[in-house]
Amino acid sequence: MGVYSKPVVFAILSAVVILIGTVVTVFIPMLMPSTQPVSGYVKPYTAVELEGRDIYIREGCNNCHTQTVRPLRTEVLRYGEYSKPEEFAYDRPFLWGSRRTGPDLNRVGGKYPDSWHYKHMADPQSMFGKSNMPPYAWMAQNRLDTRYSVKKIRILDYGYTEEEVAAQIADYRAKVTSPSYNSKRARNGVTPKELQNELTEMDAVIAYLQKLGRDVKKLEAGN
Ligand code: HEC
Repeated sequence: MGVYSKPVVFAILSAVVILIGTVVTVFIPMLMPSTQPVSGYVKPYTAVELEGRDIYIREGCNNCHTQTVRPLRTEVLRYGEYSKPEEFAYDRPFLWGSRRTGPDLNRVGGKYPDSWHYKHMADPQSMFGKSNMPPYAWMAQNRLDTRYSVKKIRILDYGYTEEEVAAQIADYRAKVTSPSYNSKRARNGVTPKELQNELTEMDAVIAYLQKLGRDVKKLEAGN
């Protein structure tokens, strides 16, 4: 009758089989570096973009905006190339969202110049009369807090050194405060005088919005 008539042997053998199953499904994935697809063309957020993302989460923008273009003809026509899993490799937590009170933002990077965003964030109804998006003008009145940027980047393992983080923040500040910045008028229009030479929360949110989908757009454009 083989093993079926030997209860003790059967119990031991089943325990061994279950143990092997447990080890394979629980412990081996723990030793693997990541199960998330990673592609070279998707770049991690810079320190400023990451701060902007945190403000986006803090303000609950994801309650009205999704970040997933589904592979449906209507969505691809409206927003562009549908979202791929590897695009979210650096998103912890991901912000796919489920409510579309506003349009999907996964391809908004590069769609408008920064100046458009400054005006729209400060007063959405000035761009679309019927918009029910609340105004966020006060974001330009808050200096960007970068005290924890290095720590955040270390925890998220983006691989930048402390100097690189400082350089990213300094570079972005130099860009938006430069006299030749092409959205200077719109930025100065919403930013109080004393903060025009500093980075504000609105600068960071716009840096983040401009990053959304840009890697994919660059890949499509072939550079
Ligand atoms: C109450 C819902 C609501 C919230 C909260 C909200 N939005 Fe919107 N958003 C909308 C709607 C509706 C539109 C479309 C009309 C418009 O452009 O104003 C929109 C449009 C946008 C657009 C333009 C998208 C495009 O492709 O034209 C951007 C960018 C945007 N929102 C960013 C944000 C950010 C950043 C936040 C958080 C700070 C935010 N929104 C919070 C409802 C919302």
